[in-house]
Order: sequence, then C-alpha cells, then structure tokens
Amino acid sequence: MHNYDNILHEYIKTIDKKLDDYLQASDAPASIAEAMLYSIFPGGKRIRPVFMLAVAEMLGGKAACDAALPFACALEMIHTYSLIHDDLPAMDNDDMRRGRPANHVANGEAMAILAGDGLLNMAFEIMADYCATVNTSESVQAMSKVAKYSGISGMIGGQVMDIKLENATNVSETEVEYVYTNKTSKLFMAAFGSGALVGGAENSVNVMEDIGHKLGMAFQIKDDLLDISGTKVFGKPIGSDDKNNKSTYISVLGEPRAKEIYANLSSQALESIKTFKNSEFLAALAESLVNRTW
Ligand code: IPE
Ligand code: IPE
Ligand code: MG
Ligand code: MG
Ligand code: MG
Repeated sequence: MHNYDNILHEYIKTIDKKLDDYLQASDAPASIAEAMLYSIFPGGKRIRPVFMLAVAEMLGGKAACDAALPFACALEMIHTYSLIHDDLPAMDNDDMRRGRPANHVANGEAMAILAGDGLLNMAFEIMADYCATVNTSESVQAMSKVAKYSGISGMIGGQVMDIKLENATNVSETEVEYVYTNKTSKLFMAAFGSGALVGGAENSVNVMEDIGHKLGMAFQIKDDLLDISGTKVFGKPIGSDDKNNKSTYISVLGEPRAKEIYANLSSQALESIKTFKNSEFLAALAESLVNRTW
C-alpha cells in the first residue's frame, strides 16, 4: 500500500505541475486568470487524469505516460469547468465546492461562467498544440475522443437530461442510466480510452472504455450516496440532490438496489482490470473508490 500511495502522489504532483505551467503561461486579464486558478487549485481528487496516466503507463510504459499528460490535463480542465457550471444558480445552485465557496460565490456569476469557458478552450488549445507537435493519428484520435465524450454526446448531453429530469415522475431505469452514462461515465471513458490510444494499445480501447463506463457509473452512485450521508470531507453541500428533486438511482430504484448495482459494477470493473499485466496500481486505485467517503 505504501507503494500505491507513492505512485498516486507522484501522478498527482506531475499533473498539478503541468496544470500550473499551462495556466501561468496565459496572458489573460488577472480577474479571469485568478478565477480559473481558484477552481483548479488546490483541486479535487484528480481521479480522471490519474486514471488516464495509469492506463497509458500500464499499456505503453513511461513514454506513453508522458505523452498522455497533455490530454490528462485537458480532461481535468474540462471536468473542472463542468463543476463550475454545475454549481451555478441556473443549474444545481450549490455554494460549496472542493471544500470552499463555489466559483460563482467567490468570483461572481459572470466570472465563473467565463472561467469555465476559459478552461474549456484552454483544454482544446493544449490538445491541438500537442497533436500538431507529434503529428500522430493516435493523438488526434485521443483529442477527438475527449471532445466527443465531453460534448453533447457525452457530459453535456448527460447534464441536459439531469436538469430535464428534475421534479420528474415515473422516471425509468433507462433514463437515469442515460444520465449517469453521459454526465459522469463519459469523462471516465475518455480517460480510459484516450489513455489506451496514447499507450499504443488500440486493441484495448473498447475494453478500457467498458471499465471506465462501469467505474464512472459506480462513482456517480457513490456520489449520490454521499450526497445523503457524506461528512465535511465531501467538500460540497449535503442534500443537494434532494433539494433539486433530482432523478437518481437512489430516488428512482431505492437505496438498497442502488447499492447492489454499485457493488456489481465495481467488482466487474475490478475483475476486468486484473486481467491486464502490470495492473496493480490501477486495480488499487479503482478499489480505493469503492469505499471512499470523500
Ligand atoms: C464530481 O466529481 C462530479 C461527479 C461526477 C460526481 P469528483 O468527485 O471527481 O470531483 P473532484 O474533482 O474530486 O472535486
Ligand atoms: C454532476 O453530477 C456531474 C457533472 C458533469 C458536473 P453532480 O451534480 O451530482 O455533481 P456534484 O455532486 O455537484 O459534484
Ligand atoms: Mg449536477
Ligand atoms: Mg451538482
Ligand atoms: Mg452529486
């Protein structure tokens, strides 16, 4: 476990250093630069970029891990922008994020919207610049995957239905499954799929994305459970889903069934990870999500 902690710490350090480099390099007005930095640092769990680096390294070694770094940072920027916008009064209207006031509470709504937009654009600039430098089809495919899975056929599409299904009655399991697959799993699938592409393992892209899908679904169900029973370490308001009358696995299927689905998805994902060589770290990371309280 000591080794696991060290590897995780190293991945996060590498990601944070590169994120800082990218953000410091801009010549933006101080107000927007500060609003972007506010949400990126100190940051959250960095689970998506860590997954991407770990997948790339498992499948393609150290060089692949280095090549995945720009995509991993871009993905974390897109994820962070999605959180800033998710908290806005027009969406979930939540005032706490990552243990402190939400971006719009600290910087005002206009600056929060623009900080989200700024992070989204910077993500694409980073990926495009990298693709232009290395000029490989894998890198272009990796960028395309991140674009698709964070757009209307991915995270944004899921957020749309998440909002549309507020206060809805008779919501089906298929409808919540769509929401979770898109708002949450797609960014996990981007991490696993792009990590595999950059890792030079095109044959493993589908299996990796399936693992990302399952882990993402489980991750969101756990997030919903913590929205009910979480403590201060959760870093965001408890009871947000109830306040907004969200349609979740818990509200639609009941807590016992939601927990059952969660346990099944987690163990299937873990089993699949363990079929890969050198998968110890990835398996330990996936396992750490199962019992998380934060
Ligand atoms: C929050 O994601 C949004 C969900 C999909 C549940 P994280 O729980 O990964 O948030 P951070 O990045 O650690 O703050
Ligand atoms: C949001 O789900 C997922 C995103 C795409 C941001 P939630 O609304 O449950 O995320 P939290 O609980 O606010 O982090
Ligand atoms: Mg939301
Ligand atoms: Mg929310
Ligand atoms: Mg939530």
